[in-house]
Amino acid sequence: MISASVDNDPPRHPLGARPVPTPNSTPRPAGSAGWWRDAVIYQVYVRSFLDSTGDGIGDLAGVGAGLPYLKRLGVDGIWLTPFYPSPQHDHGYDVADYHDVDPVYGDLDAFDRLVRDAHRLGLKCLVDIVPNHCSSRYPLFLQALTEGPGGPTRAMFHFASGRGDDGALPPNNWHAMFGGPAWTRVTEPDGTPGEWYLHMFTPEQPDWNWREPTVRGNFEQTLRFWLDRGVDGFRIDVAAGLFKHPDLPDSPDPEADERTRDSVNPLAWNQPEIHEVWRDWRAICEEYTAGDGNDRLLVGEVSVPTAADQARYVRPDELHQAFFFHLLNAPWDAAAFQNVITDALRDIAATGSTITWVLNNHDQVRAVTRYAAPTPSQDADLPDPGGARARAAALLMLALPGAAYVYQGEELGLPEVIDLPDEALTDPIFRRTGSRLRVRDGCRVPLPWSGQASPFGFTAGDAPGRPWLPQPEWFANHTTERAIADTDSFWHLYHEALHLRRNLPQLGEGPLRWLDSPPDVLAFVRGDGLVCAVNFGDRQAPAPVTGTPLLTSRPCPPGILPGNTAAWWICEHCTA
Ligand code: GLC
Repeated sequence: MISASVDNDPPRHPLGARPVPTPNSTPRPAGSAGWWRDAVIYQVYVRSFLDSTGDGIGDLAGVGAGLPYLKRLGVDGIWLTPFYPSPQHDHGYDVADYHDVDPVYGDLDAFDRLVRDAHRLGLKCLVDIVPNHCSSRYPLFLQALTEGPGGPTRAMFHFASGRGDDGALPPNNWHAMFGGPAWTRVTEPDGTPGEWYLHMFTPEQPDWNWREPTVRGNFEQTLRFWLDRGVDGFRIDVAAGLFKHPDLPDSPDPEADERTRDSVNPLAWNQPEIHEVWRDWRAICEEYTAGDGNDRLLVGEVSVPTAADQARYVRPDELHQAFFFHLLNAPWDAAAFQNVITDALRDIAATGSTITWVLNNHDQVRAVTRYAAPTPSQDADLPDPGGARARAAALLMLALPGAAYVYQGEELGLPEVIDLPDEALTDPIFRRTGSRLRVRDGCRVPLPWSGQASPFGFTAGDAPGRPWLPQPEWFANHTTERAIADTDSFWHLYHEALHLRRNLPQLGEGPLRWLDSPPDVLAFVRGDGLVCAVNFGDRQAPAPVTGTPLLTSRPCPPGILPGNTAAWWICEHCTA
């Protein structure tokens, strides 16, 4: 049973931390300036959250209906994945109109209602903006195709002549992130094979040419369009992309670029010019903040090799936050976790910004499944090591200084659905890698809300349509209804941790100090006296402090931190 009481035992701990005053547990003020610095934002994958129309696809009204659930969970706001008009080749990350809502998700009135309702509940609302590429159905791209070579609109994309006889080979050797070459050849208006255009993802997602001033101006208008509708900020897709090397030269190591989906082609990502754009966008946000005192937030999907690379994106006049994917990518191993946390504290926190922790998102295998696989547990009494580890990782993440993002279903302990039939898969990566990589559908299966059978309350109506991805029978064990009724559930762990995080000043911004601990155990103290310890091993270890923990990810016998478990304590004599 998880306990949530403050330690009244006499102060005594084996780690030699110096005595400090009793922690002050006055709740932190929920001010508007800087609200994002330690906020916890819930990622809503709109398509899979809640379907209000009965067509089997989630929508904005469904998100609105779920807001009280999110408020109760205790998050500070939501990030909505793209809901714009789109042919859905990459589920909305192929945008055909940046200023509207796809009818499948609702309309602008539904959007406005959602923002109003979120604000009424005190929840912030972020939208996703996709500036690296648009849809091949975007009107300007269609116009560029019609114009033919040399047309002014072609300059807004990357059109180039091919190489080899008759230009039949792509202009360079770059690979697309989702498989295959990064170039597609077009048929010109006169019917002849013509130029090629660049797409770092699918051919249905042509990359914008950010060296063209109109592109920059158009996106600034898009920011203002949504800020004027009341959004609190933007999650920026592919935020290390946008600019390509001006000469589009061959990559010296194209195989390396292709090796993993997240590998970085240094000629296509992370170009120095990108920082000017983030400075402009930050200035626009500041303009709105100056109007009403509410900070607007820019959080970037910045996939770059090191924490030091990432730090350059969150300098004081650039992005407020950048997802720190190194934590998500770390294997279940104490040293690996400690290294990525140490790097982030050294490099990112040093910018004066905040570290933005994340364990799950809509592009990654869910943590419960990820942590089960690489190091099977030797502990026969632990039937679900992935679940136990994901619970422990959640307590670790929520005790770290900075902000955190929780992906829908993470609070239910949803495992990945690994056995979706091939014909159900919709992720373009599957199709474009010759059915080799089944990566992203399994974490996008519509959420289970209630009941014993699909659609598990996901879809409304008397004759509900089938959810767009099939839900397995075992989702019955993970419905929100069941999770809320079971005080030992993942949901209650997140709920309790979020509640404590909001009320304990130690868990806000501020220092972290590592405590000495046995191998396999990480222990640190936050502020004046909040200790978090995680045992990554299978064997139990002595608890790093005495007394009853405030919160544990699994039951802890007195003085013991079992394997694959995390706990928080108040320790009056510990300080960071
Ligand atoms: C980002 C999104 C991903 C999308 C890709 C292309 O990585 O998170 O879902 O497919 O960008 O827009």
